[in-house]
Amino acid sequence: MMPTGVLPARELPRDELWNLVGTVRHELAARGEILPAAWVDETVDAIGQGVGTAWFAGERSRPSGLAILWVRDGRGYGHLHATQGAASVSAMSELARRLTQELPPEVARLDMGSTGLAQPDERAVGESLRGDLRFTTLLRHSMVRALTAEAPPSEPRWPDGTEVTTVRRVPMEQLTTLDWRTYRGTPDETLLSASPEGNRELLENALAGLFGRYLDEASPAARDPDGRLLGFAIGCEESLRSGVVLDIAVDPEFKRRGIGEALLLRCLRGLLALGYPRAHLWVTHGNRPARALYEKVGFAEDTSATIYRWVRTPGGQ
Ligand SMILES: CC(C)(COP(=O)(O)OP(=O)(O)OC[C@H]1O[C@@H](n2cnc3c(N)ncnc32)[C@H](O)[C@@H]1OP(=O)(O)O)[C@@H](O)C(=O)NCCC(=O)NCCS
Repeated sequence: MMPTGVLPARELPRDELWNLVGTVRHELAARGEILPAAWVDETVDAIGQGVGTAWFAGERSRPSGLAILWVRDGRGYGHLHATQGAASVSAMSELARRLTQELPPEVARLDMGSTGLAQPDERAVGESLRGDLRFTTLLRHSMVRALTAEAPPSEPRWPDGTEVTTVRRVPMEQLTTLDWRTYRGTPDETLLSASPEGNRELLENALAGLFGRYLDEASPAARDPDGRLLGFAIGCEESLRSGVVLDIAVDPEFKRRGIGEALLLRCLRGLLALGYPRAHLWVTHGNRPARALYEKVGFAEDTSATIYRWVRTPGGQ
């Protein structure tokens, strides 16, 4: 069935909307992407009240896709969902274009995640969107590593004089500054936040447990003998059976000295000691240093997800 166009999602019956948003959450959780517990209700309420911006494709009684737009910190973030079917690629492409049209003029870029489609169809959406040069795609991989007492992560080896503490003991200002600086020039630059303030909010939320319970034992920070922060890693609980490495960052001036590897090993040993049988993380395909590090300590890819990115050309649309 062809989509009948794209309409505001607040016109959907609440049950249908709840089902769609619930499916999005379920699919994200199944591939290890964590959302706060109240996300479904809050999203449905916001859309119903006209606060959240969302569209659906297909018919009111049988919607075939949903797109949600958030603007935070001067950046657009979207999520696209389509139900499998003959028209799913065109429905998702249509929804993606719609989100870009609804973006406030001062917002220059939009990153959209997606659920619902198999990888070949996700690729087909990317190909259909790339006809418009403002669209690019970013491939992200989910990686996992089993944590067992028989094959534990090796003992971390720190540069001489390193003091190891936990992230919670480091002033937020120092964490934010390092995190913001180290992602400059990497493929993940601005993927999660557009400014140091946005970055700070994300780190605060991580420590507050919004993306899974924050775990001190799996969140090491390293300082040099002068007290300068060299790097840190944040480990949280994804589920009772899985810990997640939410972030790992090394000061650009101290990269390639084994600090990233030591932080990651410490984080993994913490997760193992707490009883999690596996560790999980997400990494962008083009982030070669991070992927090489993860493979070195035993992570292997399980699934992938596509981010559709749209960047406004100078001077308008
Ligand atoms: C990824 C990152 C944490 C690595 O930290 P690091 O301290 O430089 O890494 P290490 O010196 O411990 O390197 C350990 C291993 O990682 C891999 N690695 C690290 N940097 C690499 C690079 N630039 N190119 C290729 N491999 C690299 C290597 O396998 C290396 O082992 P080797 O030295 O025996 O070759 C660091 O580059 C960083 O902070 N990047 C920006 C933030 C980021 O992308 N975080 C990951 C988000 S998913």
